[in-house]
Amino acid sequence: MDSDRAAQLLRTIAAEIGKAYVGPPEVARQLLVALLARGHVLIEGVPGIAKTTLARAFAAALELRFSRLQFTADLLPSDIVGTHVYNPKDGSFHLHEGPIFAQIVLGDEINRAPAKTQSAMLEAMQEGQVTIEGTTRELPRPFLVVATQNPIETEGTFPLPEAQLDRFLLRIDLTYPSLEDEVAMLARYGGRPPRVERCASAAEVLELQDAAGAVHVEPDLQVYVAALARRLRDDESLLLGPSPRAALNLLQAAKALALLSGRDYVLPEDVAALARPVFRHRLIPTPETAAEGFRPDALVERALAEVPHRPRPRVPAERRG
Ligand SMILES: Nc1ncnc2c1ncn2[C@@H]1O[C@H](COP(=O)(O)OP(=O)(O)OP(=O)(O)O)[C@@H](O)[C@H]1O
Ligand SMILES: [Mg+2]
Repeated sequence: MDSDRAAQLLRTIAAEIGKAYVGPPEVARQLLVALLARGHVLIEGVPGIAKTTLARAFAAALELRFSRLQFTADLLPSDIVGTHVYNPKDGSFHLHEGPIFAQIVLGDEINRAPAKTQSAMLEAMQEGQVTIEGTTRELPRPFLVVATQNPIETEGTFPLPEAQLDRFLLRIDLTYPSLEDEVAMLARYGGRPPRVERCASAAEVLELQDAAGAVHVEPDLQVYVAALARRLRDDESLLLGPSPRAALNLLQAAKALALLSGRDYVLPEDVAALARPVFRHRLIPTPETAAEGFRPDALVERALAEVPHRPRPRVPAERRG
């Protein structure tokens, strides 16, 4: 798929999401970045801020097999991955696949599940396969997890450990709507709720992912990404900075954003635009920083301001247009 066709299809999907979710356009763009970069998304926000609405609208805009998992304290790993079921007719066992065997999985309120259940899900996310009582099964493709969590509640929740957070390509932080957006939402949901139409097939999603993977990256930009990650690792207010996986994810995300913008090469602005969502959930503050009020985005912004701005990449002649 060429970059014009890709950008057009992506605009259509974003417009469908925008029918149900009223808010800043970068929210839908970040969901699409994760889809294109073959990553997973964590959506964080207080209750009633449209986390579930957004995730559902995203799934509804794609012709992908969808399943929803409501995480609770008593959810077992087998409720997610599946189990062997005995067939009394012939005395055999057959594998009953759990809801993780979908192409887009909404994991709602992931921090309400106990660690064992979270890790079953997170293993699937990293490996693209699950092991059920000794049998390994490949998950379908594309495969994308959209998980939601509420940052405030602590009672009866199990915060995701950093190794598991690192498996999310990016975290979308939903904030309260502007006055205009809130009024628009009230008007839109006053009557019959909006309908989101499917506008991209699984085959098209795979093509979009291939197109994003083929986006050109100048070596300068690899240096820029690595330097940003190192700058945060050296930050004295942090106990833990971004992993090399985080740096790789930033580059993959930047390629996806380039495609969204109709380009087949990455610009430094693509990297800068995604540094916050890709890094924010992977930073752990020192106890002193935590006590003063930790704002991961502010640290990423500081790194962006301090790491020398790379020159614009030399765009090969045949790509200029
Ligand atoms: N920005 C918004 N755009 C569209 N609908 C919104 C928006 N904000 C809130 N809503 C509406 O508010 C209601 C609650 O949204 P939703 O259930 O998605 O919230 P949530 O963040 O998942 O909440 P919870 O944490 O309680 O699960 C829905 O009817 C939704 O349409
Ligand atoms: Mg919800």
